[in-house]
Amino acid sequence: MATQSLFTANSLHTEPSSSPHTKVEKKWLGFIALDRKPMHLRLSNGCRARASLNADSKSIEIPRQWYNLIADLPVKPPPPLHPKTFEPIKPEDLSPLFPDELIKQEASNERFIDIPDEVRDVYKLWRPSPLIRAKRLEKLLDTPARIYYKYEGVSPAGSHKPNSAVPQVWYNAQEGIKRVVTETGAGQWGSALAFACTLFDVECEVWQVRASFDQKPYRRLMMQTWGAKVYPSPSTLTEAGRKILQMDPSSPGSLGIAISEAVEIAAMNGDTKYCLGSVLNHVLLHQTVIGEECLKQMEAIGEVPDVIIGCTGGGSNFAGLSFPFIREKLKGKMNPVIRAVEPAACPSLTKGVYAYDYGDTAGLTPLMKMHTLGHDFIPDPIHAGGLRYHGMSPLISHVYELGYMEAISIPQIECFQGAIKFARTEGLIPAPEPTHAIAATIREAQKCRETGEAKVILTAMCGHGHFDLPAYENYLRGNLVDLSFEEEKIQASLASVPKVGG
Ligand SMILES: Cc1ncc(COP(=O)(O)O)c(C=O)c1O
Repeated sequence: MATQSLFTANSLHTEPSSSPHTKVEKKWLGFIALDRKPMHLRLSNGCRARASLNADSKSIEIPRQWYNLIADLPVKPPPPLHPKTFEPIKPEDLSPLFPDELIKQEASNERFIDIPDEVRDVYKLWRPSPLIRAKRLEKLLDTPARIYYKYEGVSPAGSHKPNSAVPQVWYNAQEGIKRVVTETGAGQWGSALAFACTLFDVECEVWQVRASFDQKPYRRLMMQTWGAKVYPSPSTLTEAGRKILQMDPSSPGSLGIAISEAVEIAAMNGDTKYCLGSVLNHVLLHQTVIGEECLKQMEAIGEVPDVIIGCTGGGSNFAGLSFPFIREKLKGKMNPVIRAVEPAACPSLTKGVYAYDYGDTAGLTPLMKMHTLGHDFIPDPIHAGGLRYHGMSPLISHVYELGYMEAISIPQIECFQGAIKFARTEGLIPAPEPTHAIAATIREAQKCRETGEAKVILTAMCGHGHFDLPAYENYLRGNLVDLSFEEEKIQASLASVPKVGG
């Protein structure tokens, strides 16, 4: 349950002095519609954004630093605990899984962390990613709202995931690691890691949730094309997998099970480390390139968001976009509502408990204080595979408890209805995960139509759905169903949450 907001800067909302309807010559440059007078916000990321009518999304610089929100929080998040002793973990407890530099980032209180030049060089393949105004969607919705989306589908893997895969593999390679292992659901994270591994000559092995491995061959083929080995999870290669298969030989798998398998392999092999695509502080940190760029892009066109919306699985794309804006909010520079959107079938923030729980099914990971549906919870097979995770990032959970953001859940049919509207106006076919953000954006824009408010809505379009077309086929044939959340199911899985004080 979110506590009362500690945030006191509500009265400091920075609005352009001109009316939102001020008529300024409209220009389309690159991906950005310039229809507002430029204004200057002094951003506290140390970067001076050039506000110029000639700015387009390519003229801003790729950030030189990631942003760590923890540095600016008045209350620090609770520490992760050792899974056996329940004592706060020490850096050395994590060294079988992660390289030293990532362990340092995980526990860092530094406000900004330099992005290595080699990582920035790879980012240049697709960054800065475009910020696009959804003018045609606005028109369809007949809304006075101005809708912008930050599009991460331009990366080689088609989502935001390479923003963290690239530095994770780079730090591992720097410390001499030759093999990394991971889990993946629909394959977005696995393909991002396989892509990064091929650049830095590191072997990659991926445990892919069985249901996706069987139903969605294309991302598996991407991973294999980039040289990764891919196994269906649960597998017979690990003790965790064998145990699950003994109980249920046809188990469809889950992200929690696949994490157990990958963690087990890393823990048992000295030359192998584990990479995670979301949830942990260092992953959220790397994703802040999205928000840092977006702050500059919005400043360049003279816009300040009133509402920021993103989908949440483990929370990395949402944090990536919103955390730099939360920094500006804490400094009183702006005051956007920050809204996470989760699937109605896996609502960890809105229906979970805030408690210490394991990040995986077998209980091998540290205990993290987070919103959780219970580590035993196996979400229904909704199409947004990347949102089928029982927990929420501890840092997002903490920020939610502090009252700096809100959360809602939306069932999948409404999400696909929104995605079709989006595809037929903006042209891009969203991955099933960001359809949640799009549906919430449409709700907000429709509210603006009723109230007449010209709000600026900024949304995270974190990936394309070119390899998720069976989901669209299901929807277009009228076969999609809303998999409702069953209270009894969660009560049963919440019973597995360990009893830890705090
Ligand atoms: C395209 C896409 N969006 C969102 C997510 C959810 O992850 P996160 O909440 O960490 O952004 C995933 C996860 O696989 C994904 O592939």
